[in-house]
Amino acid sequence: MNKSAARTGARGSALLNVMIDAAGKAGRSLVRDFGDIENLQVSKKGPADFVSNADKKAEKIIFETLTKARPKFGFLMEERGVVEGEDISNRWIVDPLDGTLNFLHGLPHFAVSIALERDGEMYAGVIYEPVSDQMFWAEKGQGAFLNGRRLRVSARKDLEESVFATGIPFMGREDHQPFLAQLEQVMAVSAGVRRFGAAALDLAYVAAGRYEGFWEKGLNAWDMAAGIVLVREAGGMVTDFANRARMISRGEVIATNEVTHNALRKLVKIP
Ligand code: IPD
Ligand code: CA
Ligand code: CA
Repeated sequence: MNKSAARTGARGSALLNVMIDAAGKAGRSLVRDFGDIENLQVSKKGPADFVSNADKKAEKIIFETLTKARPKFGFLMEERGVVEGEDISNRWIVDPLDGTLNFLHGLPHFAVSIALERDGEMYAGVIYEPVSDQMFWAEKGQGAFLNGRRLRVSARKDLEESVFATGIPFMGREDHQPFLAQLEQVMAVSAGVRRFGAAALDLAYVAAGRYEGFWEKGLNAWDMAAGIVLVREAGGMVTDFANRARMISRGEVIATNEVTHNALRKLVKIP
């Protein structure tokens, strides 16, 4: 990356600014609603309907902001699904609230995730963690940034010093046993394994060098799309479990710094 690309990336291009604006507005709406969650924990019905409304409200804000700025682009959104656009090259992929279960339980670890898919590849990504006001962004060839500071994946190469994040399959998922086998392999050789409950943030944290790697199966396009751009632009590696680039179609991802990819892939390989 040349110096002018780095400067553009740090400020954010016009495209990124549109995405950052949408993520910021949606994130602030989520934080306002999150403030009311604690009061609802004690109600018998629980805050589930309230959270679903907060989620839809955030998605509406993103949809309207992005549509105003780029009227011809299409969408793939978690709540609304596919919205066809006149421009077939550009499509937004949006998760308005990643970490729903955390949000529902009053745990302040959740994010807004917005990606732009251009001609079939993940081109730009913004992930916003609103409680801590951390805005992660990346655009192809421009680098990855956190609130304007350049991001690099971690340089640690020894597994015994490495921290890995994952997602634990929950009720209704069939892959509990294979997951336990993977976990057993990784926990035996690493410094620790984390499960924070928001895949988009797991990927952003790999880009920020906080974890050496992340793996999860059973993900949707909107969980991964923005994070894929971030990890790549921070100098990391992102593949499916078979070391190919079919993360979205297979719903699985291994994202690491440059040096631990092979090792993590071998550990999580399902026989
Ligand atoms: C979920 C989170 C979680 C992951 C799940 C996702 P949601 O997204 O990213 O970390 O383990 O597979 O569905 O439902 O909170 O948007
Ligand atoms: Ca999600
Ligand atoms: Ca979601």
